[in-house]
Amino acid sequence: MAAADKQPVVGAGPFNGVLTWVDARFPLMSNWKAHLSEYYAPKNFNFWYFFGSLAMLVLVIQIVTGIFLVMHYKPDASLNASGIPTAFASVEYIMRDVPWGWLVRYMHSTGASMFFVVVYLHMMRGLLYGSYRQPRELIWIFGVLIFLCLMGEAFMGYLLPWGQMSYWGAQVIVNLFGAIPFIGPDLSLWIRGDYVVGDATLNRFFSFHVIAVPLVLLGLVAAHILALHEVGSNNPDGVEIKEKKDAKGIPLDGIPFHPYYTVHDIMGVAGFLLIFCTILFFAPEMGGYFLEFNNFLPADPFKTPPHIAPVWYFTPYYSILRATTSQFVMYGLVPGVAAYVALLLVSAKSGMTKFLSLVIGVVVLGLLFVLEPKFWGVVLMGLSVVIFVLLPWLDQSPVKSIRYRPTWHKYVYILFVISFFVLGYLGIQPPSEVGGLISQIFTFVYFGFFLLMPWWSRMGTFKRVPDRVTFHAH
Ligand code: HEM
Repeated sequence: MAAADKQPVVGAGPFNGVLTWVDARFPLMSNWKAHLSEYYAPKNFNFWYFFGSLAMLVLVIQIVTGIFLVMHYKPDASLNASGIPTAFASVEYIMRDVPWGWLVRYMHSTGASMFFVVVYLHMMRGLLYGSYRQPRELIWIFGVLIFLCLMGEAFMGYLLPWGQMSYWGAQVIVNLFGAIPFIGPDLSLWIRGDYVVGDATLNRFFSFHVIAVPLVLLGLVAAHILALHEVGSNNPDGVEIKEKKDAKGIPLDGIPFHPYYTVHDIMGVAGFLLIFCTILFFAPEMGGYFLEFNNFLPADPFKTPPHIAPVWYFTPYYSILRATTSQFVMYGLVPGVAAYVALLLVSAKSGMTKFLSLVIGVVVLGLLFVLEPKFWGVVLMGLSVVIFVLLPWLDQSPVKSIRYRPTWHKYVYILFVISFFVLGYLGIQPPSEVGGLISQIFTFVYFGFFLLMPWWSRMGTFKRVPDRVTFHAH
């Protein structure tokens, strides 16, 4: 539209003139309307819907505090005059000497853990209400990519203080790439830029942590929101509000995001800040769960800590890695893959699916005997995250929301959550025989939830989904 054809902006009081001037040159009002004042969201959102905006808040906190940390932090592994690695000393300097530095640093380290708390709850909401189902597959896929970036961002950030856990954690994880056949050893060397984790590793992780990954994250979050606003939000009933509109084309069960949900989200922000500040001011290390005790010791390549464990948000996947022993491969994975192929052969309708299942199954079974268990541990650990991408296609239930699924489906979800917590707990503990066995059982439960979903999600008696969303004024 030509600038002259645009209507003056009305209703903004003393800023009318400025807004009209800007709007003639930049699509300000059209975007404000499309994404806020005329974006119609279902009127029945509950507290689960706080976590998307909270994830955005934490993203902003991390970026702003990160900018201030970079002003004083030095990515340098060489020893200073006192014999302390410069990177470690610069973090101590931030904590002790920079005015308010302790607050900025603790906001960033607490923010990292809170990011995962918020994102895990955000994903759980998606699971409960089937928000990944058609037509929201791309929102979900962007979400999983965000999650992967977030994991990379947290992993690389943890190396920067150059403490014992930073150093040895990175050493363990980068060495895992060495288990990939043929290219593994060269790949881990390439990632480190040295034969051991060293200054080159610290510099490249710093570069990725402060600029490359945050840029990708921001782009993905923009894509996530654009995809969401294209199809519209799901809701706790899983009813598509766009199917029932008034004469003006406004969904009957929709309310403008602004002001209704901007105000609603402020309540979520207040609750979140209360919890965030309590942790920040009273337990910033959270008893060693958010910042491990060993990380207050400078990195020492000659002294391996007795027990190396990642931060809590990685431990469920780390448990899956540790559970994959040679016995697990032989007595767990081999029969498991064989049974799964048999299930596919019995239930698949098309001949092509049967043929592909058989071929892939036989190849995987063969490789299970040939390749090292450590490699399969890495594969399972990777799969345990990437498998989330497949949810829109694995879930075959006729309804979206848990509210209208058979009651026993709820127990299946609870079992999945329990497996996530148990694996997470065991991943923090030193390895033990009993712990190993339990993590192997729950690795099966974890993967079973996803891989058997095409069958169990269809089973049982479903409740009737209402035509309109259910809403009780509070
Ligand atoms: C930096 C991280 C993230 C940010 C800032 C973010 C932001 C948002 C926001 C603002 C919304 C709309 C409000 C809401 O529904 O809560 C949303 C919706 C959604 N997000 Fe995320 N998100 C993030 C990560 C993820 C991840 C990791 C996933 C899944 C793997 C995901 C899946 C979804 C889905 C499925 C919806 C639509 C929900 C519905 O309509 O019911 N998001 N996200």
